[in-house]
This record gives sequence, C-alpha cells and structure tokens, in this order.
Amino acid sequence: MQYTAKVVDVIKQRSQCLIVACYEGGALSPSASAISAADARNLEQLLKRENFQGKAGQTLLLLNTQGIAAERLLLVGLGPQMQDGSVTADNFRKAVEKSTEALKATPCSNLVICFGEVSVSGKDVAWQARQVAEALETASYRFDRFKSKPAEVSFVPEKIIFAVDKKQVNAANQGLHLGKSIATGVNLARELGNLPGNICTPTYLASEAKRLARGQTALSVKVLEEKQMKELGMGSLLSVSAGSDQPAKLIVLEYTGGAKKEAPIALVGKGITFDTGGISLKPGAGMDEMKFDMCGAASVLGTMQTLLELKLPINVVGVIAASENMPNGRATKPGDIVTSMSGQTIEILNTDAEGRLVLCDALTYTERFSPKAVIDVATLTGACVIALGGHASGLYSNREDLAEALLKAGEEAYDRAWQMPLWDDYQKQLDSNFADMANIGGREGGSITAACFLSRFAKNFPWAHLDIAGTAWESGGAKGATGRPVSLLVQYLVNSQAS
Ligand code: BES
Ligand code: MN
Ligand code: ZN
Repeated sequence: MQYTAKVVDVIKQRSQCLIVACYEGGALSPSASAISAADARNLEQLLKRENFQGKAGQTLLLLNTQGIAAERLLLVGLGPQMQDGSVTADNFRKAVEKSTEALKATPCSNLVICFGEVSVSGKDVAWQARQVAEALETASYRFDRFKSKPAEVSFVPEKIIFAVDKKQVNAANQGLHLGKSIATGVNLARELGNLPGNICTPTYLASEAKRLARGQTALSVKVLEEKQMKELGMGSLLSVSAGSDQPAKLIVLEYTGGAKKEAPIALVGKGITFDTGGISLKPGAGMDEMKFDMCGAASVLGTMQTLLELKLPINVVGVIAASENMPNGRATKPGDIVTSMSGQTIEILNTDAEGRLVLCDALTYTERFSPKAVIDVATLTGACVIALGGHASGLYSNREDLAEALLKAGEEAYDRAWQMPLWDDYQKQLDSNFADMANIGGREGGSITAACFLSRFAKNFPWAHLDIAGTAWESGGAKGATGRPVSLLVQYLVNSQAS
C-alpha cells in the first residue's frame, strides 16, 4: 500500500471512498460541511434520518454520492469535541478502528482520509497519520495460506491519501511512514505466531532470522546450536529442550544502525514454539494455543524488521531463546536440579514453568553486549492473563526510568503496558530446600514471582520484563496473534534516540 499526505479539494478529489469526520452533537468537520453544501441531498438531514449522532466509532457509508467526485462517502463519528475543538485520543483511535472495519465491507482500493483537520488532544498530526497507516496496514493482514480456498473479499487498499493542511504535509508523511513500517513488523510477528508448531520450530525461527538479515548490511544473525550452549553452561535452557526431538536454538541478531562503540539496547524473546508443559503436562483443552508461546520471539523479529525499514540510527541486539517443551523419555522431571549459565542452581518443580528457564540463560548471555538496557518479552504466565486480561501487558523493571519510558511508549503506540511490583517480599516464594531457587513460587502472584525469578539473572544491567501472555494473541472466534508488543517496542526505540 502506498500512503501519501496531501492537500486535497474534497469536492473535486477523485477516489473510491472519501472518509470524513463528524462530531457528537451534530457538528461537522470542515470537509463534511463542504460536502454537505455540495451534495444536493443535504447531509445534515440525511444524518438525522439515519440516526447518525457522531458518537465515537459510529460510521455511515453513503453510496451514490452527489456533487462530489468520490464514489463513496464514509462518515465517521469522533465523539464530543472539547472546548478547544479537539477530541480525545481514545475516541480518535476508536474512530480509526471502526472506519477500518467499515472499509472491510467495501471493495475500495483508493481512499482519501480527511483526518488531518481533526485535532486530537495531546497528539499531533504525525501521531494521527501513524495510527491510520498502522490500522489500515494491519487490517489487510490475512492468514489463509493453509486454506485450500482463500476467503473471497479481501481488503486491499492500494493508494491512501491522508488529507492535510499544507503545513502538516511533512509531519503527516513521517507519521504515515512510521505507521506503515510498524505494521510490517506487527504483521510479521502475527504471521510467525499464527504458524503451527509443526512448521514454526526453533529451526524455522532461526531460518526466519537469517532471512531477515539477507542482503542487509545493518543486520547480522548468528545461531548458537545446543553444543555451543552446552559449552556456555546453559543448563537451564537445555533442560527445556531435553524432552524434544527439535534442537533448541539461541538466535542472536545484531542491528547496527548507530556508531560501533554505542551500547545497544537488547531485546530478549521467549521462543517456545510449542509448550505442552513437558512432564508437568498441560490439560488438553485449548492446548493448541500454546503454539503462540513464541510470540515474544516473534515480536523481537518483527521489531527488527521495522528497524530495518526505519533505518533507525541506534544499535539493537535481539536474543531469542527458541525451544520446544515436550515430554519424551529424556525430558526433565519435576525435582530435577540444573545449573544455569550464571552458576545459580535451579530446582525444577514444574516443567511447565519453562519460559523463565530459557530466558534466564538468554539474559546471562546478553551481558556480553554490555547493553544499556535489556527488555525481555515473554508469554510467561497464565497468572498475568488473570491479572490484566487482554488489554495491557505486564511490565516489571529494576529501573524506574526504564519502566516509565516503556509505559510512555505503550501509551503513544496504543499498545499499553501496566507496571507490576517487583518487591523483595515476593522473592522468598522461590526458596528451595535443595537448590539456589525453585522455578515456581506457588499460586499467589504467579506473574510477579516469575518476574522475580528473572530479576535474579538481570542484576548487572537495567532490565525490564514484559509479560505478554494476555496480549500476544486473541482466543475464541478471532483466534490469532496480535503482533503485540511490536508497536510499543518500536516506539520505545524511536524515543530512545532523543535521550
Ligand atoms: N506459556 C505458559 C504461560 C501461558 C499460559 C500463557 C496460558 C498464556 C496462556 C507458561 O509456560 C506456563 O505454562 N506457565 C505456567 C507457570 C506455572 C506452572 C507456575 C502457568 O502460567 O500456568
Ligand atoms: Mn509452560
Ligand atoms: Zn510457556
């Protein structure tokens, strides 16, 4: 899809669909009023008749437009205007989401979106343009490669004009570029997440990382095999792949957009390509969803993809701990004790708490890059889903400024996180009678004790942990990977340039 910010004449501009804003209480945006004046049918009366009140997200598609060059007109409600004429960011997002849904029902490939004239409180036109491009680009994503007959109507907009004032053109174009690039990363993360476990194995993830780096001077990829991991002493990570026929891989991506000597930001992803629970086998219902247990890894790859498109002048290291968690005759058993790369010993009381076992060694490995910050991303605990549901990712950090930067990025990206406590009080739940620590901390505060476990391997750098168990995919009728938190991560990296 091609996105351009442009000054347009809403009456004369040709397009298959013109999208204009209305406000709650009947106020029309400047474009909508101009159209109303030009359309012989009188838009105001028509809106009344259709009971269109301009509530946030309300849409009305008009065919057979008269007096304008556009073939269709999509009216979108933005909710109430505040004193200064602006609408809330929440309502703007809602309007973008709902207009995207409405567009899915029409065979339009040529759109003009008149949202530059909408003022959103606390945001600028670049943010608005970015939201629009990201929403449209992710809405056109389909996962139908395993359907013998792909679904019929597919939403394929080709040319999108974001209508703006002359002085907004540059900022809006930047926003469109950012939104489109983020969506490319989001869609890659979704694709990898949606792939079944029999295809998306640790080896497959490694080959995808190599594919990303092909022909890219700014990105290099190295894959560590089990033999090398053993030499490094990664006894914890290897205890997870012990019960699988698929070999574990430690995938290391180095993006160097900045100066060689500049310390990188490291992203560490949980890449369990299928989590059966191991010997602590999971119940059967819904177990298919454990193919999504590599969504942290997918978000690292998606973020790298976006970095390549944006050519950000920073250094970023991606470390993916990829393994299957299976219960064969060589599988790790409850009660087994392993030694992590850090030297700390772990009593594995539950083989289903495997994410932390692969991540702890990946975190220790990451130390060699002297990173200025390490962020791990993991579908780590069911408890996080209970705590925060599907709206916010759980955020933990051993540095307050890092936590704040990630929360802010999440707000900006509309890919939100919520900070959880990492207090010492919780640490004792990990006490073991036989080793330095146990790998589970009991039912209470399950997402917190998992984070506490990881914190013991993140003492030597500023570190944050995103528990994305609730946000990485949707269940039920809309089952599928969301691509979160690529948007948050990219925003954080974009913002990190300034500081
Ligand atoms: N991958 C799961 C976490 C998960 C479960 C994510 C359900 C999304 C939905 C993780 O490996 C796991 O099994 N965690 C256990 C930990 C427990 C054994 C301490 C859990 O959450 O039940
Ligand atoms: Mn598990
Ligand atoms: Zn898992």
